[in-house]
Amino acid sequence: MARLTIEALSKYFGDQAALKNVSMQVEDGEFVAVLGPSGCGKTTMLRLVAGFDAVSEGKIAIGDRIVSGPGTHLPPEERRMGIVFQSYALWPHMDVEENVAYALKVQKVATVERAARVARALETVGLTSFRNRRPASLSGGQRQRVALARCLAMQPEIVLLDEPLANLDVHLRASMEDEFATFHKRTGTTMFYITHDQAEAMALADRIAVMDHGRILQFAPPSQLYREPANETVARFIGAGMILPGKLAGEPANGRVAVDILGHRAVIRCGPDHGAQGPVKICVRAQDLAVDRQASDPLSARLRRLVYQGGHFQADLLLENAENLPLALTLPEPCEVAPGDLLPIVLRDGWVVPQTDVLA
Ligand SMILES: Nc1ncnc2c1ncn2[C@@H]1O[C@H](COP(=O)(O)OP(=O)(O)O)[C@@H](O)[C@H]1O
Ligand SMILES: [Mg+2]
Repeated sequence: MARLTIEALSKYFGDQAALKNVSMQVEDGEFVAVLGPSGCGKTTMLRLVAGFDAVSEGKIAIGDRIVSGPGTHLPPEERRMGIVFQSYALWPHMDVEENVAYALKVQKVATVERAARVARALETVGLTSFRNRRPASLSGGQRQRVALARCLAMQPEIVLLDEPLANLDVHLRASMEDEFATFHKRTGTTMFYITHDQAEAMALADRIAVMDHGRILQFAPPSQLYREPANETVARFIGAGMILPGKLAGEPANGRVAVDILGHRAVIRCGPDHGAQGPVKICVRAQDLAVDRQASDPLSARLRRLVYQGGHFQADLLLENAENLPLALTLPEPCEVAPGDLLPIVLRDGWVVPQTDVLA
């Protein structure tokens, strides 16, 4: 187990920067997810951490050991990291036990210790009774567990995972998420988990680094990303946040402030350094919005569509009088409104988005 430090890391392919001045620290035993759309630089970062590629600028340390940096590049096999890929990369001609033992054999781990480590790893992932099966006779989830056991048997200080569930169907994903969480709890190993799936990241990680275009936009626990997005990109990306234009209409106090949104007054949450008057962007979630026929100054929105979601509807609306901004909110069943209706909408909660656009 070890802390992973990434400092001012950049990676160029030709003159294209795939990673731009990224810094983050993963604490010993922490489960960190790196989340971002395809092409944002996640795999590039993992390959640098694993030692498959050399860094262009910056450094990487595991504990106090610098493994990548100016004039330093430790090869992957000296980094004490385990890696789990999206494709399981198992040997088809070896059974489960041999697959898990293979790297230990290459490392010349003595037979008795090797057997003990393989047995323990297989037990951890619940595959003891499958030890003599070939990969071809296993399900996708079981294969991924073999890959996990193989990585575990190496007793890594850090486990790197690159979209390990991307090839599995929805049901298997949920149970494998559970496996990873259990694995982490049981071993306390530092986990560096890459994914483009925010539900997966939210379910698993202590903290999530949200990436876009080779930068880290915010690095925070899941609920902070959701409740207090650091910028508009994170606000829109996490939990389908809607952004409304507003003006501060008072002094912030105790983390709350009055805002004016297209003539509607609401009191919402804000960060400590939000003293600025003038225009702001406000992040709102579907459950922050409600229909209120008693409100004196509601937003007026036209209902476009109701989507039944079992027990409730998602209502898609367009704000009248603004630049036709779309709004979505949740309405309970039964629902007495119909597409075309004009609805009075109020804000019960929201978040003033800080004005900085990139934190990194
Ligand atoms: N070996 C490479 N040579 C040139 N460009 C690369 C190479 N690897 C990655 N890239 C580019 O770097 C960017 C980030 O890629 P990648 O890290 O694979 O993204 P992600 O894993 O988030 O989908 C992409 O624009 C990709 O085309
Ligand atoms: Mg990738």
